[in-house]
Amino acid sequence: MLTCYDYQSALMLNETDLDMILVGDSLGNVVLGYETTVSVTLNDMQTFGAAVKRGAKDKFVVVDLPFGSYNTLEQGLESGAKLFRTTQAEALKLEGAFPYQIELIERLTQIGIPVMGHIGLTPQSVHQQGGYYVHGKTHSSSEQLIENAKRLEQAGAFALVLECVEKNTSSIITKELSIPTIGIGSGQDVDGQVLVLNDLLGLGQDKGPGFCTPIANFYEAKRELIQNYLKEARD
Ligand code: KIV
Repeated sequence: MLTCYDYQSALMLNETDLDMILVGDSLGNVVLGYETTVSVTLNDMQTFGAAVKRGAKDKFVVVDLPFGSYNTLEQGLESGAKLFRTTQAEALKLEGAFPYQIELIERLTQIGIPVMGHIGLTPQSVHQQGGYYVHGKTHSSSEQLIENAKRLEQAGAFALVLECVEKNTSSIITKELSIPTIGIGSGQDVDGQVLVLNDLLGLGQDKGPGFCTPIANFYEAKRELIQNYLKEARD
């Protein structure tokens, strides 16, 4: 799975044999220039999600429910139905495994919306978690993650993102669940991997996370091409 946020990239990914596209709320960081994903709104996700689905007609597209759009069961059901309807995506993703989020996944699934879970580092709670780091390193946090993964599967989640989960813990979760696990910075012993497209293609100014080796440096290539064009045009 790769993230995607715009129509033209979605058209391009639609022509590859990529399994799934995620319209992640990471668009807050890479497209909108926010410090965290907390500023992303439901309206943003509707706009970008619909644009991606228009381009990726043959792909299974998952869209993130953003921070503040599922604070309660009722609000989550309303936001979920709205996002699912307006984007025409195949599924939604939400972060966390608190009891009301488990119930929300159950209810969304019952009304026909497939839901992908997401545990480990959950960027919408970065301030509560105390920063970006690997989860599941201690016995108790590993046990908690394994228990949460099982509860999400029981609730009806069709797949589970493991973000920055210590590799032995993600391996145990992958073995114990029957739904696919999709890792990011969580080792190789998972069923699938997800990366931010911009990190993989080197579209950004910075290096990106350590677990992603970019396959290109399009930031630098584009900067150089434009600079050369400007010189030629002026000459
Ligand atoms: O928003 C996002 O891009 C994500 C992935 C990092 C899993 O949730």
